[in-house]
Amino acid sequence: MTGHDVAVVTGAARGIGLAAAHRLGPSTRRLLVTDVDGGALADAARGLRQAGFDVHEMAVDLADAVDVERLAAAAYDLGSWSVLAHCAGLAPFMTDDGDRLLAVNLLATASLLDAFEKRLTGGEVAVCVASISAYRTLPAEVDAILVDPLAVDFLPRLGTVVDYAGRPRLSYALSKRGVQLLCRQRARRWGRAGARICSVSPGGAETRMAARSPLKGDDTAVGRRATPEEIASVIGFLTGPDAAYVTGSDVLVDGGAMAQYLHHADPEKRDRWRNAVDEERRPAAPDTVEQP
Ligand SMILES: NC(=O)c1ccc[n+]([C@@H]2O[C@H](COP(=O)([O-])OP(=O)(O)OC[C@H]3O[C@@H](n4cnc5c(N)ncnc54)[C@H](O)[C@@H]3O)[C@@H](O)[C@H]2O)c1
Repeated sequence: MTGHDVAVVTGAARGIGLAAAHRLGPSTRRLLVTDVDGGALADAARGLRQAGFDVHEMAVDLADAVDVERLAAAAYDLGSWSVLAHCAGLAPFMTDDGDRLLAVNLLATASLLDAFEKRLTGGEVAVCVASISAYRTLPAEVDAILVDPLAVDFLPRLGTVVDYAGRPRLSYALSKRGVQLLCRQRARRWGRAGARICSVSPGGAETRMAARSPLKGDDTAVGRRATPEEIASVIGFLTGPDAAYVTGSDVLVDGGAMAQYLHHADPEKRDRWRNAVDEERRPAAPDTVEQP
């Protein structure tokens, strides 16, 4: 067993986060699992305890900076935190509200990394889950804005460069591109503190999030979508000693979907995938949040 002391897993109620918690459990003294969905989190924690792990659970909304700070303090109280596997996120079909997608997927990631970064003592690893969507073509100017998502004028500035309102898949791509950039940009600071930080970009994985994803098994080279465990195994690798020289990078785990889109798909499909900005605007829906 390689020794993680405390591993924090967000989005652990289900899907990739739950698989990551199971993956990290055997090499971790204590797991701190968290999700906004307290009921599903309690079920997930029960299953993890049945698997023999020492599990602490905490329901938090990561879009709330106070909750994020509470979570980081709780991790610190449990021991010396070693791993942060940040898997929580919203899919574009769950909301039409681009600002909300950016808040949950990107701004929350920045607050979370800030809260854990100030508690670094050396030896920690953070892995944030981004997405293949981050590789879609976006205007070059957005990167300089996306690296600072907690700036007071972040959303208005982003809105002047790219009109994401009513285009949830575009907002999602922006949010996940931002997650990749945050990890890359922080790598030097984390390295100086003896810590590593990376992102993982799944293509399609069989979770409730994939239910309405346009990425089907046929779009991959492997011929199917991933299991959540196949994404979790890459998170396990990145957090372990075999990945000691991996930091600041993104690992695309897509079963060859991007290779297929760029080299083998018909031009119309390739352009539809690649061109995030030309996505058709969805008619405004009054505050509806579709449940998967
Ligand atoms: N499944 C895929 O095909 C796929 C593809 C690319 C990227 N991803 C990314 O992988 C990650 C995990 O997705 P998944 O497929 O397991 O989805 P999922 O919906 O099964 O799990 C996501 C979890 O995040 C939690 N969550 C959402 N908002 C939250 C908030 N504000 N605070 C705390 N928790 C919150 C949800 O309650 C849920 O339990 C996400 O970041 C997603 O964007 C998934």
